[in-house]
Amino acid sequence: MVLASEPGYIGTVRIRNRLVMSPMISNMADPDGNTNENHISYLEERAKGGAGLIITEYTYVDRRSGIGSRNQMGMYDERQIPKFSRLTERIHAHGAKIFVQLVHAGAKAIGAINEYKIAPSKTNFDPSVREMDASDIEDVISAYRKAANIAERSGFDGIEIHGAHGYLVDEFLSPWWNKRTDRYGGSFENRIRFAQEVIDAVRSEVDIPVGIRISLYEDEEDGYSPDYGMKIAESIRNIDYVHVSAGNNEPPGSSASFYSPHAHIFQKLRGSTGKTLIVAGSITAREDVDLVLSAADFVAVGRAMLADPYFPMKIITGKGEIRPCIRCNQGCRNLAYGEVRCTVNPYFVVPEPRKIYKGEVVVVGAGVKGLEASLYAAKSGLKVVIYEKEDRIGGQINSIFDASKAREFRQLLDYYGRTIKKYGIDVRLGERYSGDGIYCLPDTVYPDLPDKDEIWIDSNVYMYHDLALRYAAEHKVYLSSYSLTSLDRARRKAYANIARKAGVTIVDTADHYDVSIHDRNQYDIYQAMLSGIEAMRSHIAASENEYL
Ligand SMILES: Cc1cc2nc3c(=O)[nH]c(=O)nc-3n(C[C@H](O)[C@H](O)[C@H](O)COP(=O)(O)O)c2cc1C
Ligand code: SF4
Repeated sequence: MVLASEPGYIGTVRIRNRLVMSPMISNMADPDGNTNENHISYLEERAKGGAGLIITEYTYVDRRSGIGSRNQMGMYDERQIPKFSRLTERIHAHGAKIFVQLVHAGAKAIGAINEYKIAPSKTNFDPSVREMDASDIEDVISAYRKAANIAERSGFDGIEIHGAHGYLVDEFLSPWWNKRTDRYGGSFENRIRFAQEVIDAVRSEVDIPVGIRISLYEDEEDGYSPDYGMKIAESIRNIDYVHVSAGNNEPPGSSASFYSPHAHIFQKLRGSTGKTLIVAGSITAREDVDLVLSAADFVAVGRAMLADPYFPMKIITGKGEIRPCIRCNQGCRNLAYGEVRCTVNPYFVVPEPRKIYKGEVVVVGAGVKGLEASLYAAKSGLKVVIYEKEDRIGGQINSIFDASKAREFRQLLDYYGRTIKKYGIDVRLGERYSGDGIYCLPDTVYPDLPDKDEIWIDSNVYMYHDLALRYAAEHKVYLSSYSLTSLDRARRKAYANIARKAGVTIVDTADHYDVSIHDRNQYDIYQAMLSGIEAMRSHIAASENEYL
């Protein structure tokens, strides 16, 4: 068992502690794959927050066929070195190390951006994907080699080959994807050949550590098992570390939602790989970190570092309240529409308060909106009194029905409870107040479901997913399948199972719905947080002279 605070080595590189920021596509790079100030600041904040090692988002090596996301980092031209050097300098300035994760998106490359699509074998889901021939294989391997060269010259401390989540390298490793009968398919030895050739090529190009991320298992009915994943980890040679994740077609397969246990990938490990091991997967709290470090060398933390960039420092020092990732897979997974965000962390878009004032402010309502407004005021130096007519804080979070969701959201309320105490905020529960103050009641209240024997729902609003479960105990509930499109793949799959078990019937079409509400920018806790902070910022700006 190692302690999170203990320094460790990957190859020859010393990492100051055992906490690694897991690779996460941010959509913050430029359309040509270059990094920029916004992107650097986002990663820099996580280095400041104490991460020992930052592994960048998946970074394409081939711009003709390898791009997986619209504003993804890409490494393909040595003229990019000055820009990437700025990124590595800024991370190093905070004592962290940085590895780049290199990828070719294979069959999952975006059609509109890439010139063509290639994979080890043709696939049923996309007829435009062509089977790779010997020269494609050679081209891709040399693109990896070139990217590795650029990475080393830009000051990256190591290279991670993305061999997980259904991208090209994984497509070769996986019997589900790889149907080849030549020397790259057919047997286990043949399926790992491509990954090995990529690793050997990268190795021969650079002197920095090289590792591979693999899926320990494919999270699909006909996917491969943890035993197969362990066999890959044990068999790959010439490598400094193995990083285990899970998933199949899409990265969301690896970002399990609140329906699955914490440290779920760790729990599927079978023995030792004999190599330096990094383990990822739903590690959002101190107990999860300790559990993983009981058998792994490093722990990879993804979403918890979006929710709180200072997660590593808080884990290591035991000081400070961690703003908890609730594994909702909402803000962070909404990448089709924008840059990465986090539903519980409004400070992706709002600057932390900088000026300190004197005075007192009254907030009415201790739902998420009022709680965030109060914290903002307290951080600005103001004394805060909150009035809440109910006998507990949390507002609508308290009425979440779904047990898994409620358990995870509860952590957020615990966080508020502790933080309010820390800032000495005076909370008056069970008291109505009608004087001057900042009124923080919800901006949008969606109507309740009608009390009918049969209820037909067509809504992407998360509240109705929850209400469907609640009502199914006593009513016949029909939910349109379209309602689930607001959920990311991992949550959608798990919710559909739970809903069916609860008696909800999921239908593709219906003649009539009792509720038909679609709200792309639905009012969720993120909107409530932003709205509370905005109310307080405007109040402070308008009353600045009074508070100076
Ligand atoms: C927004 C987002 C983007 C991701 N992008 C990548 C990626 O670029 N490469 C990768 O290997 N995994 C990616 N993942 C998976 C994470 O690295 C991680 O394995 C997963 O989220 C589970 O860890 P967590 O529970 O700590 O978030 C992504 C996950 C999220 C939430
Ligand atoms: S959006 Fe939800 S799952 Fe994603 S990082 Fe934030 S709290 Fe975690």
